[in-house]
Amino acid sequence: MKTLIFFGGTGNLFVNKIFPALVTMYARGDLENVQVVAIGRRFSSQDDYQNFLLKTLTEKDPALLSEDSIREFWKCLHYLQGDIEDDSTFVKLNQHLAACCTEAIFYLSTLPNLYQNALRQIKSFFPETLLKNAKVALEKPFGDNLPSFQKLKQTLQQTFLERNIFYVDHYLGKEIVLNLIILKAENWFLERLLSREFVKEVHIGLCEREGVAERKVFYEQTGAIKDVLQNHLLQLLALIAVDAPPLCETDPRECASFLEALAYEKSKLLSKIHLPPPEHIKLGQYTSYREETGYLNSTTETLFVVPLFVATPRWRGVPFYLISGKKMAEKRSFIKVIFSSHLDYTNALYMEIQPEERIDLYLRLKRPGTTLSAMDTRLNFSYAGNFKGASSQAYQKIILDILSGDRALFPDSSFIENAWRLTDQLKTLLDEHQHPFFFYPDYTLTAESLLTERRSENAIP
Ligand SMILES: NC(=O)c1ccc[n+]([C@@H]2O[C@H](COP(=O)([O-])OP(=O)(O)OC[C@H]3O[C@@H](n4cnc5c(N)ncnc54)[C@H](OP(=O)(O)O)[C@@H]3O)[C@@H](O)[C@H]2O)c1
Repeated sequence: MKTLIFFGGTGNLFVNKIFPALVTMYARGDLENVQVVAIGRRFSSQDDYQNFLLKTLTEKDPALLSEDSIREFWKCLHYLQGDIEDDSTFVKLNQHLAACCTEAIFYLSTLPNLYQNALRQIKSFFPETLLKNAKVALEKPFGDNLPSFQKLKQTLQQTFLERNIFYVDHYLGKEIVLNLIILKAENWFLERLLSREFVKEVHIGLCEREGVAERKVFYEQTGAIKDVLQNHLLQLLALIAVDAPPLCETDPRECASFLEALAYEKSKLLSKIHLPPPEHIKLGQYTSYREETGYLNSTTETLFVVPLFVATPRWRGVPFYLISGKKMAEKRSFIKVIFSSHLDYTNALYMEIQPEERIDLYLRLKRPGTTLSAMDTRLNFSYAGNFKGASSQAYQKIILDILSGDRALFPDSSFIENAWRLTDQLKTLLDEHQHPFFFYPDYTLTAESLLTERRSENAIP
């Protein structure tokens, strides 16, 4: 039997994202011959743990999962109380796995500062026969900079084969993000249009309404650039800018080699990205941050606008604006490709990841009536509208891919290395320049307002 072992089984991520995905997959029959072990410290018994899950999920969103489906899932779930820093946890886990497990999948959804410890314990407590085919999945952050990622990678590779290591970026499991690949590979005209010849600029945004909430200590040390630019936003940039090889859907072997080639091309693309002069970068902090976190002299950025340039023949000179902020006026993540135009009007391809998964094309079309005049229009495709209920949740895809060993949609270590290299260079540039930041009132800014402001400052290169 395959066993999925979650470290952090009582944590926010497991409870709110992973557990609902598991229950849905179980009800659908996707978890046949799979057992789930959840590890945490908080609850001393299986009953207490189950009651906690049931209460949290039915109170939060009763429509998400039925109580019956959650109770059905208990057949597949085993709770183990234990501390990662305590050997006895691994002794108990080993005994449990010895009874039934043929393939172990260790999933680290716990605090990142425990990863090294957990990995060392796994290496020393489990038999070689189990570890040689075992898999490991990790949640971001993957280190804090390039050297720390390389150290983490080294520890992982001491126990696991490279092909059995899964770095999870849940953004890559979202339907609309996966669609970026199809959109380019299967619509040849669009693939040609995505180039400096037709594109004026690209905006890639991740705007949040929330502040830093419970992540105060982590966020103060990390800041917005390391938290989201290094991973989600660079992934989106790479997906939109990469030269997509042609896709052959009908042949699964060709499809696999396509995805492998794509992963290689994405990583290569990152090494061709150039940073802008520091004065073109904007950093901000929401006004209540210092009081909320207790870091009264904090200079941690909670917002950025960073234009990046891809030095390839296809993209040379086109700015890719990466924009992100906490406590903004909107919750929205998106990619907007703005095409050059001789008119005032903007032709654009807009892909929204959150709150709604959708794609819009902004065109000028004829206004209804007898006169020949044009009007602004938006052609719209939305997942919810077009495929009711068909959009699978990111964590279902992630877990299914890990179980089947399909690693094509996970960032590989060379992508993460290149992403850290670039992020470290950006941080050094900002430190050397002693980059100033501005305070912005909570819930006032939008991605659009930030970009408009920059245009009026004439700061866009
Ligand atoms: N939350 C999200 O939406 C999200 C999204 C993307 C990535 N992530 C990443 O996912 C990971 C987990 O995040 P989270 O939000 O779930 O964190 P969290 O709510 O703080 O949960 C931490 C989990 O780790 C457990 N834990 C802490 N110290 C432990 C120890 N010494 N031994 C055993 N277990 C221990 C906690 O167990 P007890 O509470 O029972 O002690 C809890 O289950 C982090 O790496 C985070 O960056 C989170």
